[in-house]
Amino acid sequence: MVLKEVYNPHTESAFDQYKTEHASSIADPESYWGQKALENLDWFSPFDAVLQGSFTDGSVAWFVNGKMNACYNAVDRHVDTKGSQVALLWEGDEPGDTKSYTYTQLLARVCQIANAMKAEGVKKGDVVTVYLPMMPEVTMVMLACARIGAVHSVIFAGFSADAIAERIAASQSKWVFTSDEGLRGGKRLPLKNICDNAMNKEICINVVSKCFVFERTGGKCNWSDSRDVKFGALADSQRPYCPCETMDSEDNLFILYTSGSTGRPKGVVHTVGGYCLYAMETCKNSFGLKDGDVFACVADAGWITGHSYIVYGPLLNGVTSFMFESTPMYPDEGRYWDCVERHKINVFYTAPTAIRSLMRFGDTAPNKYDLSSLRVLGTVGEPINPEAWRWYYEVVGREKCSVVDTYWQTETGGHVITNYPGVTPMKPGSCTLPCFGIEAVVLDSQTGKEIEGNDVEGVLAIKQPWPGVTRTCLGDHERYLNVYMKPYPGYYFPGDGCRRDKDGYIWITGRVDDVLNVSGHRIGTAEVESALVAHPSVSQAAVIGFPHDIKGQGICCYCTLTYGHEESEDLVKELRNAVRVAIGPFATPDLIVPTPSLPMTRSGKIMRRILRKIAAGETDTLGDVGTLGDPSVVQKLIDKVETLQ
Ligand code: PRX
Repeated sequence: MVLKEVYNPHTESAFDQYKTEHASSIADPESYWGQKALENLDWFSPFDAVLQGSFTDGSVAWFVNGKMNACYNAVDRHVDTKGSQVALLWEGDEPGDTKSYTYTQLLARVCQIANAMKAEGVKKGDVVTVYLPMMPEVTMVMLACARIGAVHSVIFAGFSADAIAERIAASQSKWVFTSDEGLRGGKRLPLKNICDNAMNKEICINVVSKCFVFERTGGKCNWSDSRDVKFGALADSQRPYCPCETMDSEDNLFILYTSGSTGRPKGVVHTVGGYCLYAMETCKNSFGLKDGDVFACVADAGWITGHSYIVYGPLLNGVTSFMFESTPMYPDEGRYWDCVERHKINVFYTAPTAIRSLMRFGDTAPNKYDLSSLRVLGTVGEPINPEAWRWYYEVVGREKCSVVDTYWQTETGGHVITNYPGVTPMKPGSCTLPCFGIEAVVLDSQTGKEIEGNDVEGVLAIKQPWPGVTRTCLGDHERYLNVYMKPYPGYYFPGDGCRRDKDGYIWITGRVDDVLNVSGHRIGTAEVESALVAHPSVSQAAVIGFPHDIKGQGICCYCTLTYGHEESEDLVKELRNAVRVAIGPFATPDLIVPTPSLPMTRSGKIMRRILRKIAAGETDTLGDVGTLGDPSVVQKLIDKVETLQ
């Protein structure tokens, strides 16, 4: 079948309604969001003002002086009407290893965990680090933190000890949750031991008071009687009710570290009221949620996608949230579709990289299963190439489901640009049109002026505050202003380039800064470079992304070696490992290119543009290399990369 430009499972009237509602949400955001906040959230006491502050000075606050609790809204308030409905449906690493918790059961267990945390001394405002595998407890701990007003800082369980230590130290987190081991694709991961390595590093000494350990496999792990607590047993002994802390709408709900173009990862801060409303509304609108839906976001809870669309979004909406511990390939490439059939999943949300890797195996696996429960298929994390989109739509969705391409980021709290199912005509590869409350504009990157009209290209910016926007970077408001607010004063700048096509649809063209997107994971080139130059053999490193069939982007590292170090296979292995140790296995470089020198301008600036072209194999469009200090280095690098690829 030929790829059509526009797919239309929508009704004209729904699309017109979207346009009207979107226009009114932009014209008067205060009445739009004020009404949504009153209709959709339960407040302990009402807010005095809907919105205060602006992007210009980074002082945005929503639902000022309103008091509420995120856990109460996600769990307690559903118990009366939906107590016996499954809130959390978990599928473990082995097919069919499932657990489910009704809203009543979830409330009881979250309360026990919250009481156990209080018994250990955790207080409102404390930062709690969560380094857990995809076991139900990761959701429960996040909710328990929200309940008692502690601020969770979840770290994806693929991060290394160095990366964990850095985050614990930066947030001065006294409390750390982990499990004995993790289990993924039949492999055990020594999470507690990795955590120990982090907590024992110098920067964490005297920071961590207690490490709360859940049992996942029962496997052996290191133990310190003075620091470690068998947390499952402690929680079992607690009362299954714990009162909710009254939180201000603008109190911190959580921190999530994410990579930027320079320096250390940033602690992106989200606050209670605005984040909850935005996660709830976007989950409802972007996926066309219906009461009783089984909603499956197969991301990891350690990324923002898991926060907003495994934990907060679905539970705030009172549907059943499916959690998945395993991988799409275990025990075979039919695993997702097996889950869809067995659990009658209605909405399925994954990343283009997973779709591309499954598509390679052909249609047999999805065709084997009954996928008729599916209504909406979502994608997130990077632009989806039209071929993958079509496979998702035709083979998985059987041309009956909407495919929603959700564009957003850690900092936006929830989707900012996406089609709505049954509402927006779909175009494969385009995230389409802005969500309610989002005024998306295209700016000229040089002048910062808005580019009017269609069929234009520039950088993406958002013109007015929405409830889910991050409020600060933990402990570094200056950085927050510099990264998001100051590049184009008066606008929020997400760091992506985009095109607006002839119909006004947005196409994300990728990051315009030095941030890579590898399998939907965001990695700062500066972090990889600093891991490489920390190795004694590397004097200078330049890290570049290049197009990769499955991962979207691969990581290519050009390294100049220090005097006395020779290029060898062992050295390349060591350098790869240095990155794994500093960040985690998901950041492992695809290509390491040792080189005697790098292309530099005469003033000593590395010409990344040229390095990018060489890594991408686009050597016939290198442009002018005449300004280089030593133009001959270019040919040497081209030859070298060709032999390595
Ligand atoms: O470049 C955009 C890309 O992922 C970045 C955000 O990464 P992160 O904060 O880790 O959040 C990922 C999950 C929301 C964005 O700046 N991105 C995300 N979704 C899309 C996307 N690029 C194109 N299309 C998308 N749907």
